Amino acid sequence: MIKILSVVGARPNFMKIDPVLRALERDPGRFSSVLLHTGQHYDDNMSRVFFHDLGLRPPDIDLGVGSGSHAEQTAAVMIRVEQALIAHRPDLVLVVGDVNSTLATTITAAKLHIPVGHVEAGLRSFDRRMPEEINRIVTDALSTYLFTPSRDADELLHREGIPAERIYFVGNVMIDSLRRCQELAAHSPILSQLALERGQYAVLTLHRPGNVDDREVLAEILDALDEIQRVIPIVFPIHPRTVKQIEHFGYEPRVAAMPGLRLMPPCGYLDFVALQTNAKLVLTDSGGIQEEATVLGIPCLTLRDTTERPITVTQGTNQIVGHDKAKILEAAFKVLGGQLPQGRIPELWDGHAAERIVDVLTQIPFSGREPLSPDDQEPVPPMVAGVDPGR
Ligand code: UD1
Repeated sequence: MIKILSVVGARPNFMKIDPVLRALERDPGRFSSVLLHTGQHYDDNMSRVFFHDLGLRPPDIDLGVGSGSHAEQTAAVMIRVEQALIAHRPDLVLVVGDVNSTLATTITAAKLHIPVGHVEAGLRSFDRRMPEEINRIVTDALSTYLFTPSRDADELLHREGIPAERIYFVGNVMIDSLRRCQELAAHSPILSQLALERGQYAVLTLHRPGNVDDREVLAEILDALDEIQRVIPIVFPIHPRTVKQIEHFGYEPRVAAMPGLRLMPPCGYLDFVALQTNAKLVLTDSGGIQEEATVLGIPCLTLRDTTERPITVTQGTNQIVGHDKAKILEAAFKVLGGQLPQGRIPELWDGHAAERIVDVLTQIPFSGREPLSPDDQEPVPPMVAGVDPGR
């Protein structure tokens, strides 16, 4: 039996791990699967609703680390994950994405000489002011197996000196979840609950520290939204960080003066897929939403200066518009005026990425190990060469 311990922590992790767990469960004779939740996100609407909507099984281990500064949160995950890894002795740890829980787990597992598989490897914004960029660089450098969503990610990892035999182009697991849940999302009551007409509204998400922790930047984005909400309602499921910052800067009256900007609590997965699917326009600073909008064919304006997912721009429906009011408005009004981007779906974003990951795992010659103490000197196991269904 090969024991795989998969780690989730924050909202964007749940829809990435779920398809992998499902694929592992198809081979119960080979894999035993443990799910660990660090507790980085803990609110019902940031965490629990995703377990419900995705049908993700409850975690076997919940570390309950909660919020804190980057160092506090990362350190808390490391301390508790180390204990869990020593107790559970997995053959492989699987991490997804780029959140603090991803980084903390990877460092800890690597020091215990447990191999790490990173799902969504090889993404770079080249902006080290983003905490996620630091997390991506360190996670990729320490991972044993790097599962990439696109070929440009493979090339980037090659340029960073990662040996080719560690890199597997498997496609996009987030799209596996999107594809599986599209039909369920079609039954979501969210449009009627919010009295929205298909194609007659925009949807907005905004939570990056670079946008919401800076007084001037947030003010400029709100100015742009003010113009847009006069023309089309903007549905805004609002992240807890953004709520806090709007209060902190005293911007509540500004927000309240925009009747077309319709704030609501963060929404569940199926409701959000339904909102995106039927939107005229998506405005976001999220990474994953750029990808989902590309697959759904919905125009997406990314309120950042960079993206770690350039394929959503070169092939998809995404445009990078930053936080400059004039740029946001120009792009938004083009879309509202009917100039729609013609995108296509990137290679291997086909709903089967997790199966490819499990195919790779099936071929790894895991050795019977007797881990683990932090002082163990076991070598990392050999790589699997030549398993790349995309090449
Ligand atoms: C984290 C990820 C980010 C991801 C985002 C999705 C990192 C560095 N960032 O950012 O990549 O896009 O999740 O949401 O890991 N809070 C709550 N309830 C919760 C969770 C958080 O109220 O369940 C509040 C807390 O006050 C906390 C703040 O939100 O201080 C920020 O949470 P945190 O996990 O530190 O980062 P996010 O901004 O959510």
